[in-house]
Amino acid sequence: MARVLSVEDLSMEVELKRGSEFKGSKKVKIVKNVSFSLSRGETLGIVGESGSGKTTLLKALAMISPPSEGRIVLDGDVVFDKGKRTASLKSKVQMIFQDPDSSLNPTMKVKDIVAEPLRPLKYEKAVVAEKVSTALDDVGLSGKFAENYPSQLSGGQKQRVSIARAIAPSPALLLLDEPTSALDAAVQAQVLNLLKDLQRKLNLAYILVTHNIFVARYLSDRLGVFYTGEVKELGPTESVLVDPLHPYTWTLLSAFPVPDPDRRSLLNTEVIGEAPSIITPPSGCTFHPRCLYVKEKCESEKPELKEYSANHTAACHFALEIQNSRKQQQQRAAM
Ligand SMILES: Nc1ncnc2c1ncn2[C@@H]1O[C@H](COP(=O)(O)OP(=O)(O)O)[C@@H](O)[C@H]1O
Ligand code: SF4
Ligand SMILES: [Mg+2]
Repeated sequence: MARVLSVEDLSMEVELKRGSEFKGSKKVKIVKNVSFSLSRGETLGIVGESGSGKTTLLKALAMISPPSEGRIVLDGDVVFDKGKRTASLKSKVQMIFQDPDSSLNPTMKVKDIVAEPLRPLKYEKAVVAEKVSTALDDVGLSGKFAENYPSQLSGGQKQRVSIARAIAPSPALLLLDEPTSALDAAVQAQVLNLLKDLQRKLNLAYILVTHNIFVARYLSDRLGVFYTGEVKELGPTESVLVDPLHPYTWTLLSAFPVPDPDRRSLLNTEVIGEAPSIITPPSGCTFHPRCLYVKEKCESEKPELKEYSANHTAACHFALEIQNSRKQQQQRAAM
C-alpha cells in the first residue's frame, strides 16, 4: 500500500498569556511527540476524552495551526520539517468538522461552498463546475441542492456538503473530527456508510476522531488512544479493543467488561473523574493519578511507547502484567 502520510515526533506548542501561575507568557506543549504513518485507503481512528488534544492534532496536520516541531511527509513531499513549513499541501489534506452549522458559511450557496477549496488550484470555471457537480453526486446530493443555502438543508445533508467540499479538490487524506456526533443515529449510519464507500471509491486515507467505539470499529483499521496530548496506545483496531495494553484503554472500555467488542458501545469516560489539564499534566506517566495500577516509578518516569505485539504499541511500564491480570479477571467473570 502506498504511504500517504508519515508523521515523526510531531509536537504543538501554544503560548499561554499571563495567568495566576506565572508571569508574562509561557510556552506549553499540548501535543507531544506524536509519530505514526498512514497508507492510501487506510483509516486511523483516534479516541480519547474531550480536552486531550485530538482537534489540535488534526489542525496541526492540516496546517490550520501549524505544529511547532517534528516532520510531516505527505504523499512523498516533506511539507513540514524542523519547525517550518517546507512545501504546500496542494489541497491534499482536507478536514471535516463535527458541526456543519459552524463550518458552512450560511451566506453562501452549496455550489460555492464546495468550490471554495478549489480556488487555490486555479482551475478554469468550467472545470470547477464539473468538479463541484461530481463531488455533490459522490455524496448523494443531486444537482438541485447546488443552488440551496445551508439553512435549507437537514443536518445530514449539511454534513454531506462538508464531505463534498472536502473531496472536491481530490485530496489524499481526510481528517474527520467527530464527523457524525452531531447527527441522530439513523443519519449517522448513512453518513458512515457514505464515508466508507467514498474511501473505497477514491482510495482515501482517513484520520477519524470519535467518541464512539462502534464508529471507530466500523471505519478504523488501526486505533490510537490519546491522553494529555500523547499517544498512549496504538495498534490494529481489533487488538486494541479485544486485547488492550494500557490501563487507560481498559478504563475507557470498562463500562462493558466483556471480551466481545460488539457489546461495548460508547467510551466510558465517566468512571474515573476529571481528566487532567493538558497544560499542566501530571509528572511521569500522565495517567498515574487515575491509574489503578500505579507504582512509585510511574510518578517519576515517563513510559515510552513500546511494541508488544505486531504493530501494537503502548506507553505503560507494566502493560503486559496488567493485560494478563485484566484478562484473567475477564475469564473469571465469564465463567
Ligand atoms: N491555542 C491554545 N492556547 C491555549 N490552550 C489551548 C490552545 N489550543 C488548545 N488548547 C488547550 O488544549 C486543550 C485540548 O484541545 P482540543 O484539541 O480541542 O482537545 P479535544 O479535541 O481532544 O477535545 C483545550 O482544552 C485547551 O485547554
Ligand atoms: S505507567 Fe504506571 S501509572 Fe502509567 S498506566 Fe502504566 S501502571 Fe498506570
Ligand atoms: Mg475536539
